[in-house]
Amino acid sequence: MILVTVFWGSVDELGEETVTTVALKDVTKVFKDGTLAVDSINLDVNDGEFMVLLGPSGCGKSTVLRMIAGLEDPTQGAVLLDGELANDLPPRDRKIAMVFQDFALYPHMTVGDNIAFPLRLAGVEPTPRGERVTDVASALGIGDVLARKPGQLSGGQRQRVAMGRAIIRRPGLFLMDEPLSNLDCGLRAELRAEISGLTRELGVTTVYVTHDQAEALTMADRVAIMRRGVLQDVGTPTQVYGRPATLYVAAFLGSPRMNLLEASVYVHLDRYVTLNLGEQSLYLPWDDIRSRAVAHYHGERIVVGMRAEALTPVSPDSPGDVLRGRIRYLEHHGHESLAFLDIGATAIVVDEMGARLDNPPEGQRGLRRFSSVMQRLTGKAVEAADDAAGGTRTSVLPDPGRHHRRPAELAVRLAPYPAVAAGHPLAVAVRMDALHFFDERGGRIDVGWR
Ligand SMILES: Nc1ncnc2c1ncn2[C@@H]1O[C@H](COP(=O)(O)OP(=O)(O)O)[C@@H](O)[C@H]1O
Ligand SMILES: [Mg+2]
Repeated sequence: MILVTVFWGSVDELGEETVTTVALKDVTKVFKDGTLAVDSINLDVNDGEFMVLLGPSGCGKSTVLRMIAGLEDPTQGAVLLDGELANDLPPRDRKIAMVFQDFALYPHMTVGDNIAFPLRLAGVEPTPRGERVTDVASALGIGDVLARKPGQLSGGQRQRVAMGRAIIRRPGLFLMDEPLSNLDCGLRAELRAEISGLTRELGVTTVYVTHDQAEALTMADRVAIMRRGVLQDVGTPTQVYGRPATLYVAAFLGSPRMNLLEASVYVHLDRYVTLNLGEQSLYLPWDDIRSRAVAHYHGERIVVGMRAEALTPVSPDSPGDVLRGRIRYLEHHGHESLAFLDIGATAIVVDEMGARLDNPPEGQRGLRRFSSVMQRLTGKAVEAADDAAGGTRTSVLPDPGRHHRRPAELAVRLAPYPAVAAGHPLAVAVRMDALHFFDERGGRIDVGWR
C-alpha cells in the first residue's frame, strides 16, 4: 500500500485532469421496452468518498453506474462530473475507470501487459510504464505473477489484475460493479478490506455497486440504498442502520433481520400510548416525545421494528417492558445462537427481493420461502429465487408500502449453545428507546430521536 502512495505522489507524466465528484440530478432511465430502471435519483458523491450503491438484483444499480460512466444516456435529468454537465460527454473523455463483475482480461497477454495496456494506449514510454506496473502490481500483491497469463491465475488474482488495470491510469473516479460477486466467501472478505484500503489510500472517489449488505456496511463512507429504481435512503452505515428512512431499508439491513411487528395504536391521553402486538402490548409513556408522534396513528395499525440487539432475555417474572413467548426453533451460529419466538404477534414481511408482492404464484411463494430459509441458514441471499421471481416483474411499480403478513417469529440473540430448546418459554426485555416506527406505507414515523 505504501508503494502506491509513493508512485501516486511522484509520477504524473499523463498530466491529465481527473474527475473527483459526481452529482446526479433527478436522473431517470426508461429503457426502450418501457422498463423504468431508475426513477428520479438525486445523489452527490463527494471528493475522495467511497459511496456504495446497495439493493437487490434488478433495482437499477448497474444502470446508475453505466450512466455515470457514459455507457447509457439518462432519459431525464443531469449527470454532473466535477460540477459540469456531462450528459453528452463520451465515455473516453470522462477519465473514469470501471471494474465489472466478470473482469474480462486479455487472455493472450501476460498479467504485466494486461495492467500496462491502458498506459500503452495513452502512449506512455516503456520505462515509466514498466515502473508503474511493478508498483501497482506489488501494491495489489500480484508482483510475482506479472509474467503469467490470466488463465494461470486464481479468481482473486485475476480480480486484482483487473483492479490494477483500472487504477494504473490514476482515475479520479473509480466505478466498480459487484467486483467480488464471483469470488468465494473468504476471498471476498479479504479483497473487501483491500479495495477500501487502496481507494482510501489513493484518495480516489469511488462508486461501488453491490447487493451484499455486509460489503456495503463494512466498506462504505456512505451507502445509497435502492429499491426498484427509487433511492430509499443515503447515509453513513451507522445512519442507515441506526435510523432507516423506510421500512424497506430497515428490513434490508442487518443480520438477523429486524423484527417487524404489526401494532395497533391506542392513545390513553396524558398517560401512555399502547402498542397492541396481538396477544401482548408495549407501552410508550406519555412524557416520551415519541409517544406524541405515534399518537397520530390512534386506532390505526403501524409497524414496530426491533432489532435483536434491542431484546435481552430476562427471567419470566421480570417487570417492565417484556415480551413473552415460546421458542419455535433455534439456530446455532457458533459465536451466538438465535432463538425465534412465537409471541402471538403478526410479522410484516417486506418484499425484500425486489419482485412483485401481490399474489405471487404458488411456485414463487415456495421459492421465496426456500430462499428465506436458506438465507437464515447461510446468512446469504439466494440469487436464484430473485431471478425466478424476476420473470413476473413489470415496469408498473406496485404500491411501495405493500407488504404481507405472517405469524411473527421474533429473533432473539442468545449465548452460543444455550441451555434451552425448541418449545421452551422465553421472556425478553425490550429496549423501548431502540424501537423503530413505520406507517402502513413504509415511511418512517419520525420521532425526532436517534
Ligand atoms: N438494456 C436494457 N433494456 C431493458 N431493460 C433493461 C436493460 N438493462 C437493464 N434493464 C432492466 O432495468 C432494471 C435495472 O437493471 P440493472 O440496473 O441491471 O439492475 P441491478 O444492477 O441493480 O441488478 C432491471 O429490471 C433490468 O431488467
Ligand atoms: Mg447489476
